[in-house]
Amino acid sequence: MKREVTKAIFPVAGLGTRFLPATKSIPKEIMTLVDRPLIQYAIDEAREAGITEFIFVTSRGKGALEDYFDHSPQLESELHKKGKAELLKILKNTNMDSGAIAYIRQYKALGLGHAVWCARRLIGDEPFAVILPDDVISSEKSCLKQMVQAYNDVGGLMVAAMEVPQDKTSSYGILNVAQQQKNLIAINGMIEKPAQGDAPSNLAVIGRYILTPNIFTHIEKQNFGAGGEIQLTDAIANEIDIGHAVNGFLFEGQRFDCGTKAGFLQATISFALAREDLRDELTDYLNKLVSVINVAQ
Ligand code: UTP
Repeated sequence: MKREVTKAIFPVAGLGTRFLPATKSIPKEIMTLVDRPLIQYAIDEAREAGITEFIFVTSRGKGALEDYFDHSPQLESELHKKGKAELLKILKNTNMDSGAIAYIRQYKALGLGHAVWCARRLIGDEPFAVILPDDVISSEKSCLKQMVQAYNDVGGLMVAAMEVPQDKTSSYGILNVAQQQKNLIAINGMIEKPAQGDAPSNLAVIGRYILTPNIFTHIEKQNFGAGGEIQLTDAIANEIDIGHAVNGFLFEGQRFDCGTKAGFLQATISFALAREDLRDELTDYLNKLVSVINVAQ
């Protein structure tokens, strides 16, 4: 099977417990880096990669996420009346075509693999992307676009990969490497959150995937894996076991783990420093802060 990748699944049904109490009422994906919700970064990345159908796997309490994509004619006309052309442009860039987004429910947070499986009927018989919005990747060319281009050359299944420190491997899905050619890694196994010392490499899977519908057959048969969840990594490992090609792709760009508080804060600072309207003020503040810390030490 080798067809264009035009559909993407965004699993957003997790509980977001690491951001409690905020996530009691705000979906994690709506939290903002500077002034854009995490989900907007994910959508923009997908659009740049040629995705035209966006499938959200949601859950209870994610209403704000659905509302975010509604058009806002009243707000638009107010901005128009007040001559705020720049803001109007920003707002209009977030508009999605009618029918481009589908929402499907995961009734219980049974894991990422299960969340992806919930979207199976909307995928049909074609390859598709999966994007985890809490992995935010800052890059010149969108990470998913880099992957789609590589996929168009080599086919198979593909996972985004990056090097992580050896002592952090137990927090990730880790690749067992068969062969590496530049930024493409042929994989002969994958293990989710290996115990310290058991990791077959220091190459971790990051939240971008290109998969084919055969993955659903594995998820269906799967038992609960690491952390008591139905893991996507296990299903991809099953694909390798039956001889299907799976490649890791070392993307160009910087990844922020916005599922953690430290990662979220680092991303906020980094994205703010990249903005002309904020850079100078923030740099001044950070410099002062650093000198206060240095004096205190
Ligand atoms: P995480 O492991 O970050 O879990 O999920 P979480 O629930 O979002 O956050 P914590 O750990 O409680 O703080 C990675 C991605 O998979 C989705 C999440 O929404 C997130 O985008 N996910 C996870 C689901 O959609 N369903 C699940 O059952 C689990």
